[in-house]
Amino acid sequence: MSFYVRRMYKEDVDQVTEIDREAFPTQWPPPNYQNELRNQSAHFTVVCDEEKPVEQLVANTTPEKRATGLLARIKRLFSRNNPSDNSMPPSPGHYIVGFVGSWIMSDEVHITSIAVRETYRRQGIGEKLLISAVEKAMELKANILTLEVRVSNTGAQSLYSKYGFTQVGLRRAYYTDNREDALLMSTDKINSASFQSRFRQLKEAYSRRITTKDKATQE
Ligand SMILES: CC(C)(COP(=O)(O)OP(=O)(O)OC[C@H]1O[C@@H](n2cnc3c(N)ncnc32)[C@H](O)[C@@H]1OP(=O)(O)O)[C@@H](O)C(=O)NCCC(=O)NCCS
Repeated sequence: MSFYVRRMYKEDVDQVTEIDREAFPTQWPPPNYQNELRNQSAHFTVVCDEEKPVEQLVANTTPEKRATGLLARIKRLFSRNNPSDNSMPPSPGHYIVGFVGSWIMSDEVHITSIAVRETYRRQGIGEKLLISAVEKAMELKANILTLEVRVSNTGAQSLYSKYGFTQVGLRRAYYTDNREDALLMSTDKINSASFQSRFRQLKEAYSRRITTKDKATQE
């Protein structure tokens, strides 16, 4: 499989919502990803399967984007050059296989969700998403990354532990569906020499195992 990483665009919302529903079926209501994209503090990254184009994305584009007039073309040109504009995907749609979302709050990046389609799990995609979230936090000059995870979700906890997250708290009955507790996990300071060196080693080991492309358009 060949896959690549890029930022999320509004055209991706349907696919991301589908992945969210598959991964978190009991969490209700689902997040409104259109609103999330408008939130200046939120950052979303997706992983796409390059071998699987999604034709209907073209059909779903709004009349404004299909317009061919001079004004429409100028608008498209500017929106391509504006990295904060979520209106234009970089290439025809591909099948999104996973996504990660995070919020920057003061000097902390909080990972709000990370999910991979069931049929694509255990192939390194979750790890790639986590690497992207850590890189985003470094770019934003955050101090630490934090997240909540269900006490029963040992698979996800293994992923986080691998990248240096440790438990720093417990939120009792945090999940409203079954009142399950959440572990609050955090990294050490991500600009510390120890974190940076471990992260570099993990990334190197990852790229020896798996080849992915980072689209230039990724934020
Ligand atoms: C958690 C999740 C994102 C992991 O994605 P993934 O693509 O399957 O994970 P990867 O293949 O990249 O695995 C990376 C590491 O995660 C850990 N891991 C992932 N799934 C695991 C599992 N089922 N059991 C044990 N460890 C697991 C391992 O440490 C693995 O490293 P390794 O390959 O060196 O053993 C995915 O299982 C998922 O979408 N789950 C449902 C949604 C969810 O629970 N999200 C987390 C909410 S806090």
